[in-house]
Amino acid sequence: MMKRFFFLLLFAAALCIAGCGKQEKPKLVMVTNATFPPYEYVANQRIEGIDPHIVREIASRLGYELVIQDMSFDAVIAAVQSGKADIAASGLTVTDERKKQINFTIPYVVAEQVVIVKKSSPVRTLKDLKGKRIGVQHGTTGDTFVAKNICEPERFSTGPVAVAALLKDKVDVVVIDNEPAQVFLKQRRELRLLKEPLTAEEYAFAIGKHNKELLGRFNKELEKMRNSGELAGIIKHYKDLNSQSSPVAADNGYWGGIKESFKLNFVKDKRYLYLLNGFWVTVKVSFFAVLLGIVIGFGTAIIRSAADQTGKFKLADFFCRLYLTVIRGTPVVVQLLIIYFVIFGAVDVDKVIVAIIAFGINSGAYVAEIIRGGIMSIDKGQMEAARSLGLSYWQSMREIILPQAFKTALPSLGNEFIVLLKETSVSGYIALQDLTKGGDIIRSQTYDAFLPLLAVAAIYLAVVVLLGKLLECLEKRLKRNE
Ligand code: ARG
Repeated sequence: MMKRFFFLLLFAAALCIAGCGKQEKPKLVMVTNATFPPYEYVANQRIEGIDPHIVREIASRLGYELVIQDMSFDAVIAAVQSGKADIAASGLTVTDERKKQINFTIPYVVAEQVVIVKKSSPVRTLKDLKGKRIGVQHGTTGDTFVAKNICEPERFSTGPVAVAALLKDKVDVVVIDNEPAQVFLKQRRELRLLKEPLTAEEYAFAIGKHNKELLGRFNKELEKMRNSGELAGIIKHYKDLNSQSSPVAADNGYWGGIKESFKLNFVKDKRYLYLLNGFWVTVKVSFFAVLLGIVIGFGTAIIRSAADQTGKFKLADFFCRLYLTVIRGTPVVVQLLIIYFVIFGAVDVDKVIVAIIAFGINSGAYVAEIIRGGIMSIDKGQMEAARSLGLSYWQSMREIILPQAFKTALPSLGNEFIVLLKETSVSGYIALQDLTKGGDIIRSQTYDAFLPLLAVAAIYLAVVVLLGKLLECLEKRLKRNE
């Protein structure tokens, strides 16, 4: 028996060593906001386009394996600056403001900001922009330019969302970079461009100031690609590819062409997979965050009640109060961003885990107060009776008080779980592709807000109804045990 065990151990160790011995290529992390065709966009569940292609090519020449992370545009520079990512490749315009935070490579393309309007619009020249509602993607040079020179723009999370708003007459014009504008025009016949551009710009890749060495090596390869004509080839390839893309069905109003719209939003290019995969992420994050929240919440509630009842554990009680104040006093999105960018800033952890930790810690604070409420609702006499029967404080807590507290708290707890499930919909802030984000990706490809949002809402609703039923069953079970 011992011998067998010993050999097994040896075998496992050998496997481990063989596994470790395999030389893995070092990783190069690139961040982008993949809503910007032909530079970066999601197609067939992958991030494609000019930027990923160039960076992948250079990474492989430098001996790296490329990892691409999709996030909101206004976060890409911060990601590189904080060391969370090595390079930002996102159709980034070189500006003096940005140069203060990161270094730019040599530029690889020239661009300009242009104005998209509906064909039917009275806006003909830049002069007509006065007093119009202008849509932009938040954090872009278009945003800065409009804010500085024309008016306060309406800021959207992505270019395609701004265009969708234009199509629905929520804004009068959209200011965006010329190449993406061309792609949007190809897909929507009801749009046109103003002749004059607003700005002249250059795109480059951004690398952290601490990473001079990478900058030098990267520039060298980029230079080579430019001189050999390879760069021009890649750019042309993606421009051509995107100018062929079939026009998206015209806007037929809410109910018009529902079947067409259904096919476009869910069937074409297997878009339903964005919802399916997103749903799975949402379920994983919610489930484990609930568990974590219960553990933290019970712990905190027990310490707080014990401190109240016995006058001991002053220090622990102080920290519990601090935790409750901070967590309940700040928005969960901010907590999520702090945990991702600051606490896990320099380490590479799976975003699902980051989300579980963030939502778990957040939920724990609410669970704690719910459970404490439950504990307080139990008559003092019960504890006294238990103690006089010879049970210790902790024994009475465990055997007598907590089970009852849990039962009284169950409806409120159920409420908290439902809130948590829906709160995970802000995961997109750290570019986690949850259910909501899945819907967002579809919307950015089809410019259709109606069906994707409806589908996302229906899925959340279904899960909440199911959860409600489960909690109801649990409550009935506990009643029967009385
Ligand atoms: N060129 C503009 C800028 O640097 C817009 C870039 C938007 N890029 C994107 N991947 N969405 O601000």
